Amino acid sequence: MKVTVVGAGAVGASCAEYIAIKDFASEVVILDIKEGYAEGKAMDLMQTASLNGFDTKITGSTSDYAKTADSHIAVITSGIPRKPGMTREELIGINAGIVKTVSSNLLEHSPNVIIIVVSNPMDTMTYLVHKTTGLPKNRIIGMGGALDSARFKYRLAEAMEAPISDIDGMVIGGHSDKGMVPLTSHATRNSIRVSEFLSDERLEQVAADTKVGGATLTGLLGTSAWYAPGAAVSALVQAIACDQKKMFPCSTMLEGEYGLNDICIGVPVILGKNGIEKIVDIPLSDAEKAKMQESAEGVTKTNGLLEL
Ligand code: NAI
Repeated sequence: MKVTVVGAGAVGASCAEYIAIKDFASEVVILDIKEGYAEGKAMDLMQTASLNGFDTKITGSTSDYAKTADSHIAVITSGIPRKPGMTREELIGINAGIVKTVSSNLLEHSPNVIIIVVSNPMDTMTYLVHKTTGLPKNRIIGMGGALDSARFKYRLAEAMEAPISDIDGMVIGGHSDKGMVPLTSHATRNSIRVSEFLSDERLEQVAADTKVGGATLTGLLGTSAWYAPGAAVSALVQAIACDQKKMFPCSTMLEGEYGLNDICIGVPVILGKNGIEKIVDIPLSDAEKAKMQESAEGVTKTNGLLEL
Protein backbone atom coordinates (compact mmCIF):
# COMPACT_ATOMS: atom_id res chain seq x y z
CA MET A 1 0.00 0.00 0.00
CA LYS A 2 1.63 3.21 -1.21
CA VAL A 3 0.52 6.57 0.12
CA THR A 4 1.56 9.99 -1.20
CA VAL A 5 1.39 13.11 0.93
CA VAL A 6 1.69 16.37 -0.99
CA GLY A 7 2.94 19.21 1.21
CA ALA A 8 5.66 18.47 3.75
CA GLY A 9 4.57 21.29 6.05
CA ALA A 10 3.04 20.99 9.50
CA VAL A 11 0.00 18.87 8.59
CA GLY A 12 1.66 16.82 5.83
CA ALA A 13 4.61 15.81 7.99
CA SER A 14 2.37 15.07 10.98
CA CYS A 15 0.09 12.83 8.94
CA ALA A 16 3.09 11.03 7.36
CA GLU A 17 4.45 10.44 10.86
CA TYR A 18 1.17 8.98 12.18
CA ILE A 19 0.78 6.77 9.11
CA ALA A 20 4.30 5.45 9.59
CA ILE A 21 3.90 4.88 13.32
CA LYS A 22 0.72 2.87 12.71
CA ASP A 23 2.80 0.73 10.32
CA PHE A 24 0.05 -0.30 7.87
CA ALA A 25 1.52 1.24 4.69
CA SER A 26 4.52 -0.17 2.88
CA GLU A 27 5.58 3.22 1.53
CA VAL A 28 4.88 6.90 2.12
CA VAL A 29 6.14 9.44 -0.44
CA ILE A 30 6.20 13.07 0.70
CA LEU A 31 6.34 15.82 -1.91
CA ASP A 32 6.90 19.54 -1.50
CA ILE A 33 7.66 22.40 -3.81
CA LYS A 34 10.25 23.80 -1.39
CA GLU A 35 13.68 22.52 -2.50
CA GLY A 36 14.94 19.71 -0.26
CA TYR A 37 12.16 20.14 2.32
CA ALA A 38 10.32 16.86 1.71
CA GLU A 39 13.61 14.98 1.44
CA GLY A 40 14.65 16.42 4.81
CA LYS A 41 11.36 15.60 6.52
CA ALA A 42 11.41 12.06 5.08
CA MET A 43 14.98 11.46 6.26
CA ASP A 44 14.22 12.83 9.74
CA LEU A 45 11.13 10.61 9.99
CA MET A 46 13.04 7.53 8.74
CA GLN A 47 15.54 8.11 11.54
CA THR A 48 12.66 7.61 14.02
CA ALA A 49 11.84 4.17 12.54
CA SER A 50 14.14 2.12 14.77
CA LEU A 51 13.01 4.15 17.79
CA ASN A 52 9.28 3.99 17.07
CA GLY A 53 9.34 0.47 15.65
CA PHE A 54 7.90 0.83 12.15
CA ASP A 55 8.94 -0.58 8.77
CA THR A 56 7.10 1.87 6.51
CA LYS A 57 9.55 3.30 3.98
CA ILE A 58 9.33 7.10 3.81
CA THR A 59 10.89 8.98 0.90
CA GLY A 60 10.78 12.65 -0.02
CA SER A 61 10.92 14.51 -3.30
CA THR A 62 10.85 18.08 -4.55
CA SER A 63 7.88 17.90 -6.89
CA ASP A 64 8.97 14.79 -8.86
CA TYR A 65 5.56 13.18 -9.36
CA ALA A 66 7.12 10.12 -11.04
CA LYS A 67 8.11 9.08 -7.50
CA THR A 68 4.42 8.97 -6.53
CA ALA A 69 3.52 6.53 -9.35
CA ASP A 70 0.90 3.89 -8.53
CA SER A 71 -0.09 5.39 -5.19
CA HIS A 72 -3.28 3.91 -3.74
CA ILE A 73 -4.08 6.99 -1.68
CA ALA A 74 -2.87 10.60 -1.99
CA VAL A 75 -3.33 13.33 0.60
CA ILE A 76 -3.27 16.97 -0.54
CA THR A 77 -2.05 19.30 2.22
CA SER A 78 -0.17 21.70 -0.04
CA GLY A 79 -1.10 25.34 0.23
CA ILE A 80 -1.04 28.11 2.77
CA PRO A 81 -2.53 27.81 6.27
CA ARG A 82 -4.39 30.64 8.00
CA LYS A 83 -2.81 33.11 10.38
CA PRO A 84 -4.57 34.48 13.50
CA GLY A 85 -7.73 36.40 12.58
CA MET A 86 -8.04 34.84 9.10
CA THR A 87 -10.91 32.65 7.95
CA ARG A 88 -10.30 29.47 5.98
CA GLU A 89 -12.23 31.03 3.08
CA GLU A 90 -9.58 33.74 2.68
CA LEU A 91 -7.09 31.10 1.51
CA ILE A 92 -9.03 30.27 -1.64
CA GLY A 93 -7.12 32.47 -4.12
CA ILE A 94 -3.75 30.78 -3.62
CA ASN A 95 -4.86 27.31 -2.62
CA ALA A 96 -7.27 26.72 -5.53
CA GLY A 97 -4.44 27.00 -8.08
CA ILE A 98 -2.21 24.71 -6.03
CA VAL A 99 -4.88 22.04 -5.44
CA LYS A 100 -5.88 21.98 -9.12
CA THR A 101 -2.29 21.51 -10.34
CA VAL A 102 -1.43 18.97 -7.65
CA SER A 103 -4.48 16.76 -8.30
CA SER A 104 -3.81 16.75 -12.03
CA ASN A 105 -0.13 15.79 -11.47
CA LEU A 106 -1.13 13.02 -9.08
CA LEU A 107 -3.58 11.49 -11.53
CA GLU A 108 -1.05 11.52 -14.34
CA HIS A 109 1.07 9.02 -12.39
CA SER A 110 -1.60 7.23 -10.33
CA PRO A 111 -4.80 7.02 -12.39
CA ASN A 112 -6.56 4.85 -9.78
CA VAL A 113 -5.63 6.92 -6.74
CA ILE A 114 -8.08 7.87 -3.99
CA ILE A 115 -7.58 11.55 -3.11
CA ILE A 116 -7.99 13.01 0.38
CA VAL A 117 -8.24 16.81 0.30
CA VAL A 118 -7.03 18.71 3.36
CA SER A 119 -6.07 22.18 2.03
CA ASN A 120 -8.50 24.93 3.00
CA PRO A 121 -11.17 26.04 2.38
CA MET A 122 -11.48 22.27 2.36
CA ASP A 123 -15.10 21.75 1.21
CA THR A 124 -14.54 24.09 -1.72
CA MET A 125 -11.18 22.49 -2.55
CA THR A 126 -12.90 19.08 -2.55
CA TYR A 127 -15.56 20.47 -4.91
CA LEU A 128 -12.79 21.87 -7.12
CA VAL A 129 -11.12 18.44 -7.37
CA HIS A 130 -14.49 16.99 -8.43
CA LYS A 131 -15.09 19.58 -11.07
CA THR A 132 -11.58 19.50 -12.52
CA THR A 133 -10.66 15.79 -12.42
CA GLY A 134 -13.98 14.10 -13.22
CA LEU A 135 -13.10 11.26 -10.84
CA PRO A 136 -15.95 9.15 -9.44
CA LYS A 137 -17.21 10.62 -6.17
CA ASN A 138 -16.09 7.68 -4.03
CA ARG A 139 -12.47 8.55 -4.82
CA ILE A 140 -12.54 12.18 -3.61
CA ILE A 141 -12.73 12.68 0.15
CA GLY A 142 -12.50 15.95 2.07
CA MET A 143 -11.04 15.76 5.58
CA GLY A 144 -12.60 18.11 8.11
CA GLY A 145 -15.34 16.39 10.06
CA ALA A 146 -13.00 13.74 11.51
CA LEU A 147 -10.91 16.52 13.02
CA ASP A 148 -13.89 18.61 14.13
CA SER A 149 -15.47 15.53 15.75
CA ALA A 150 -12.24 14.80 17.64
CA ARG A 151 -12.31 18.39 18.92
CA PHE A 152 -15.99 18.01 19.86
CA LYS A 153 -15.21 14.85 21.86
CA TYR A 154 -12.33 16.63 23.57
CA ARG A 155 -14.63 19.49 24.63
CA LEU A 156 -17.40 17.09 25.74
CA ALA A 157 -14.96 15.05 27.83
CA GLU A 158 -13.60 18.24 29.36
CA ALA A 159 -17.10 19.50 30.24
CA MET A 160 -18.09 16.20 31.87
CA GLU A 161 -14.66 15.46 33.34
CA ALA A 162 -14.95 12.09 31.60
CA PRO A 163 -12.38 9.94 29.78
CA ILE A 164 -12.42 10.76 26.05
CA SER A 165 -12.76 7.05 25.21
CA ASP A 166 -16.20 7.09 26.87
CA ILE A 167 -17.43 9.81 24.51
CA ASP A 168 -19.02 9.53 21.09
CA GLY A 169 -19.97 12.49 18.98
CA MET A 170 -19.93 13.83 15.48
CA VAL A 171 -19.66 17.15 13.68
CA ILE A 172 -21.14 17.42 10.20
CA GLY A 173 -21.60 20.38 7.83
CA GLY A 174 -19.00 22.70 6.36
CA HIS A 175 -15.48 22.82 7.77
CA SER A 176 -15.64 26.46 8.86
CA ASP A 177 -16.18 28.31 12.13
CA LYS A 178 -19.74 29.19 11.15
CA GLY A 179 -20.55 26.09 9.10
CA MET A 180 -19.81 23.26 11.53
CA VAL A 181 -22.83 21.44 12.92
CA PRO A 182 -21.90 19.60 16.15
CA LEU A 183 -24.64 17.01 16.66
CA THR A 184 -25.23 17.55 20.36
CA SER A 185 -28.46 15.52 20.31
CA HIS A 186 -26.56 12.44 19.07
CA ALA A 187 -23.53 12.77 21.37
CA THR A 188 -23.20 10.14 24.09
CA ARG A 189 -21.17 9.19 27.12
CA ASN A 190 -21.12 5.40 27.46
CA SER A 191 -24.24 5.26 25.25
CA ILE A 192 -26.13 7.75 27.45
CA ARG A 193 -27.05 11.05 25.80
CA VAL A 194 -24.76 13.86 27.00
CA SER A 195 -27.83 15.99 27.71
CA GLU A 196 -28.26 13.75 30.81
CA PHE A 197 -24.97 15.13 32.16
CA LEU A 198 -24.82 18.69 30.84
CA SER A 199 -27.23 21.63 30.94
CA ASP A 200 -28.46 23.11 27.63
CA GLU A 201 -26.28 26.17 28.25
CA ARG A 202 -23.15 24.06 28.86
CA LEU A 203 -23.86 21.97 25.76
CA GLU A 204 -24.27 25.11 23.70
CA GLN A 205 -20.92 26.32 25.03
CA VAL A 206 -19.30 22.99 24.10
CA ALA A 207 -20.68 23.33 20.56
CA ALA A 208 -19.47 26.93 20.32
CA ASP A 209 -15.97 26.01 21.57
CA THR A 210 -15.85 23.15 19.07
CA LYS A 211 -16.70 25.42 16.17
CA VAL A 212 -13.84 27.79 16.95
CA GLY A 213 -11.50 24.92 17.83
CA GLY A 214 -9.18 25.65 14.90
CA ALA A 215 -9.25 29.42 15.43
CA THR A 216 -8.45 28.99 19.14
CA LEU A 217 -5.34 27.00 18.25
CA THR A 218 -4.36 29.41 15.48
CA GLY A 219 -4.48 32.19 18.07
CA LEU A 220 -2.26 30.22 20.45
CA LEU A 221 0.19 28.85 17.88
CA GLY A 222 0.37 31.75 15.41
CA THR A 223 -0.48 29.29 12.62
CA SER A 224 -2.99 26.47 12.25
CA ALA A 225 -2.73 23.22 14.19
CA TRP A 226 -1.08 20.02 12.96
CA TYR A 227 -1.18 17.13 15.49
CA ALA A 228 -4.93 16.54 15.45
CA PRO A 229 -5.25 17.32 11.70
CA GLY A 230 -2.42 14.86 10.98
CA ALA A 231 -3.97 12.20 13.21
CA ALA A 232 -7.39 12.70 11.59
CA VAL A 233 -5.95 12.29 8.10
CA SER A 234 -4.04 9.17 9.15
CA ALA A 235 -7.26 7.66 10.54
CA LEU A 236 -8.99 8.13 7.17
CA VAL A 237 -5.99 6.72 5.29
CA GLN A 238 -5.93 3.69 7.60
CA ALA A 239 -9.67 3.08 7.20
CA ILE A 240 -9.22 2.94 3.42
CA ALA A 241 -5.89 1.08 3.40
CA CYS A 242 -7.13 -1.57 5.84
CA ASP A 243 -10.68 -1.70 4.40
CA GLN A 244 -12.07 -0.98 7.86
CA LYS A 245 -15.59 0.11 6.76
CA LYS A 246 -15.44 2.72 9.53
CA MET A 247 -17.76 5.70 9.72
CA PHE A 248 -16.34 9.25 9.67
CA PRO A 249 -17.92 12.55 8.72
CA CYS A 250 -16.19 13.53 5.46
CA SER A 251 -16.81 16.08 2.77
CA THR A 252 -18.32 14.34 -0.22
CA MET A 253 -20.31 15.28 -3.30
CA LEU A 254 -24.01 15.13 -2.45
CA GLU A 255 -26.66 14.21 -4.99
CA GLY A 256 -29.85 14.67 -3.03
CA GLU A 257 -28.62 13.25 0.29
CA TYR A 258 -29.54 15.50 3.23
CA GLY A 259 -31.64 17.48 0.74
CA LEU A 260 -28.51 18.91 -0.90
CA ASN A 261 -27.18 18.80 -4.45
CA ASP A 262 -23.95 19.69 -6.27
CA ILE A 263 -22.04 20.49 -3.10
CA CYS A 264 -19.22 18.86 -1.13
CA ILE A 265 -19.93 19.09 2.58
CA GLY A 266 -19.38 16.97 5.68
CA VAL A 267 -21.76 14.05 6.21
CA PRO A 268 -21.21 10.60 7.76
CA VAL A 269 -19.70 8.13 5.30
CA ILE A 270 -18.32 4.60 5.45
CA LEU A 271 -14.67 4.39 4.41
CA GLY A 272 -13.22 1.19 2.98
CA LYS A 273 -10.92 0.03 0.19
CA ASN A 274 -12.99 1.85 -2.45
CA GLY A 275 -12.85 5.17 -0.60
CA ILE A 276 -16.34 6.42 0.23
CA GLU A 277 -18.41 3.24 0.12
CA LYS A 278 -21.67 4.67 1.45
CA ILE A 279 -23.18 7.94 2.58
CA VAL A 280 -24.98 7.30 5.85
CA ASP A 281 -28.33 8.99 6.33
CA ILE A 282 -28.74 9.80 10.01
CA PRO A 283 -31.93 11.39 11.33
CA LEU A 284 -31.49 15.09 12.13
CA SER A 285 -33.71 17.26 14.30
CA ASP A 286 -35.43 20.24 12.63
CA ALA A 287 -32.88 22.58 14.24
CA GLU A 288 -29.97 20.47 12.92
CA LYS A 289 -31.55 20.37 9.46
CA ALA A 290 -31.82 24.16 9.46
CA LYS A 291 -28.17 24.50 10.57
CA MET A 292 -27.08 22.10 7.82
CA GLN A 293 -28.99 24.14 5.24
CA GLU A 294 -27.37 27.36 6.45
CA SER A 295 -23.95 25.69 6.41
CA ALA A 296 -24.52 24.54 2.82
CA GLU A 297 -25.39 28.09 1.81
CA GLY A 298 -22.02 29.25 3.17
CA VAL A 299 -20.11 26.56 1.28
CA THR A 300 -22.01 27.31 -1.94
CA LYS A 301 -21.10 30.99 -1.56
CA THR A 302 -17.40 30.10 -1.25
CA ASN A 303 -17.68 27.70 -4.22
CA GLY A 304 -18.93 30.69 -6.22
CA LEU A 305 -15.48 32.26 -5.83
CA LEU A 306 -13.90 29.43 -7.84
CA GLU A 307 -12.98 30.07 -11.46
CA LEU A 308 -14.08 26.76 -12.95
P1 NAI B 1 2.33 24.59 5.90
O1 NAI B 1 2.60 25.94 5.37
O2 NAI B 1 3.06 24.14 7.12
O3 NAI B 1 2.62 23.51 4.75
C1 NAI B 1 2.15 23.63 3.45
C2 NAI B 1 3.24 23.09 2.53
O4 NAI B 1 2.73 23.07 1.19
C3 NAI B 1 4.50 23.96 2.51
O5 NAI B 1 5.63 23.20 2.92
C4 NAI B 1 4.61 24.40 1.05
O6 NAI B 1 5.96 24.50 0.59
C5 NAI B 1 3.84 23.30 0.35
N1 NAI B 1 3.38 23.66 -0.99
C6 NAI B 1 2.86 24.83 -1.42
N2 NAI B 1 2.57 24.75 -2.73
C7 NAI B 1 2.89 23.50 -3.14
C8 NAI B 1 2.81 22.80 -4.37
N3 NAI B 1 2.32 23.39 -5.47
N4 NAI B 1 3.24 21.53 -4.42
C9 NAI B 1 3.75 20.93 -3.32
N5 NAI B 1 3.86 21.53 -2.12
C10 NAI B 1 3.43 22.80 -2.03
O7 NAI B 1 0.75 24.48 6.12
P2 NAI B 1 -0.04 23.40 7.02
O8 NAI B 1 -0.21 23.93 8.38
O9 NAI B 1 0.58 22.08 6.81
O10 NAI B 1 -1.48 23.44 6.34
C11 NAI B 1 -1.66 22.96 5.01
C12 NAI B 1 -3.08 23.20 4.54
O11 NAI B 1 -3.98 22.38 5.28
C13 NAI B 1 -3.57 24.64 4.74
O12 NAI B 1 -4.36 25.04 3.65
C14 NAI B 1 -4.42 24.55 6.00
O13 NAI B 1 -5.37 25.57 6.08
C15 NAI B 1 -5.04 23.19 5.80
N6 NAI B 1 -5.56 22.55 7.00
C16 NAI B 1 -6.73 21.86 6.86
C17 NAI B 1 -7.28 21.19 7.92
C18 NAI B 1 -8.55 20.42 7.73
O14 NAI B 1 -9.14 19.96 8.71
N7 NAI B 1 -9.01 20.24 6.51
C19 NAI B 1 -6.63 21.21 9.25
C20 NAI B 1 -5.40 21.94 9.29
C21 NAI B 1 -4.89 22.58 8.18
